[in-house]
Amino acid sequence: MAQEFQTLFAGDSSQCKNKVNLKERFTPEFFKLEQEKIFKKAWLVAASMTDLTQKGSFYVSDIPPLKLSLLIVRGEDDQIRAFHNVCRHRGDKLVQTQTGNTRAFTCAFHAWTFSTSGKLVNITDATQFNGIQKEDYGLVPVNCEVWEDLVFVCLDEKPQESLEQYLGPEIYHGYKGFAKGRVKIADHKLVLKTNWNLGTNAFSEGYHNLYIHKNTVPDYQGGAGNPDRHRPYLEVGRHFGRYSTHGNQNHKKTPTEAAVYAHSRPLFPWFPPLDMSNYPPGINPSRFDQWGFDIVHIFPNCIFGPQANSHAFMTFWPIDHETTEIRNWRFAYGSDNPTDAIAQAYSVTRAREVIREDMNTMETTLQGINSGAFEHIVLSQQELLIQNHYRAADAMLAKD
Ligand code: FES
Ligand SMILES: [Fe+2]
Repeated sequence: MAQEFQTLFAGDSSQCKNKVNLKERFTPEFFKLEQEKIFKKAWLVAASMTDLTQKGSFYVSDIPPLKLSLLIVRGEDDQIRAFHNVCRHRGDKLVQTQTGNTRAFTCAFHAWTFSTSGKLVNITDATQFNGIQKEDYGLVPVNCEVWEDLVFVCLDEKPQESLEQYLGPEIYHGYKGFAKGRVKIADHKLVLKTNWNLGTNAFSEGYHNLYIHKNTVPDYQGGAGNPDRHRPYLEVGRHFGRYSTHGNQNHKKTPTEAAVYAHSRPLFPWFPPLDMSNYPPGINPSRFDQWGFDIVHIFPNCIFGPQANSHAFMTFWPIDHETTEIRNWRFAYGSDNPTDAIAQAYSVTRAREVIREDMNTMETTLQGINSGAFEHIVLSQQELLIQNHYRAADAMLAKD
């Protein structure tokens, strides 16, 4: 009998459990706990630096579980800052457009104006405001830190740890420069009737790959010696879990793939061998020689997918206990060559088809869990990142 393809496991999984009661986690009461103890405390992915490249660039990032709108802006001093997107006069939403570039923000209601560093610079008809000092009414800041091409925010008044401590050295220092030169090639969102945990879970394992994706990408993973498409590498950490995929070296390009990728660098779903010597250590951490791509679950709600020439960030935002907003950003190498643009656009389309198959499980799984047909789900070793997700959630929920 052929030997099973072995996964290299790393990290401490001693607290992970292979049985999880989901029904009790999908109630409105439990969601309140998640809001208070997870989404108000954790570092959360709020913006991509590709939307903040110039002085005055801004991005409005809503945080649905906390019903907040944040304004993230690059100031004249090139500092990235985050503020509540709330005018200090009477509280209207200050910036209504998602992204853009400006020298100052003027509220549409009574035209108070704020600088890109959050200072109140003009009160219209100012003599009518008795005893009001402009310096006391700047925008309300939010803790924010930049990591590689992402802006993280923390809504805790005093974060319990820095982003570096939160992510840990493997993540924080492991991806230096990986996103250099990349541009955003896709940005879309949708809302599903599902629980946010199920959203992250669906992208935290490759066990389903052989089955649910058989129509869109039947042969891009695994290959000879790995018929069940086990992950070559799988690691869990305090606030992350990650795995590498096995890129099938015998993947047969479809005629369209062959045509559109003829003059581009390798892109999803084509993963030929690659010289990894210039990649930072976090990418393909075990340096598996038939590497496809990695999946990194950044707790609580971000799935980061680094590949050789592209990467993606998906975030899963609970609106309530049974409604989730899913944001999907995809990036690739910058190029002026139209053949690259065609290849990248095709790759986005293919990935979207695959993601649709993943999405297709999320609403029906919520219904199944809520039916109460059974008490707990069971998870394999290949689903260790999901075990780790609930371990990390329970650790945060247990804190005061
Ligand atoms: S609410 Fe913004 S200026 Fe009045
Ligand atoms: Fe999938």
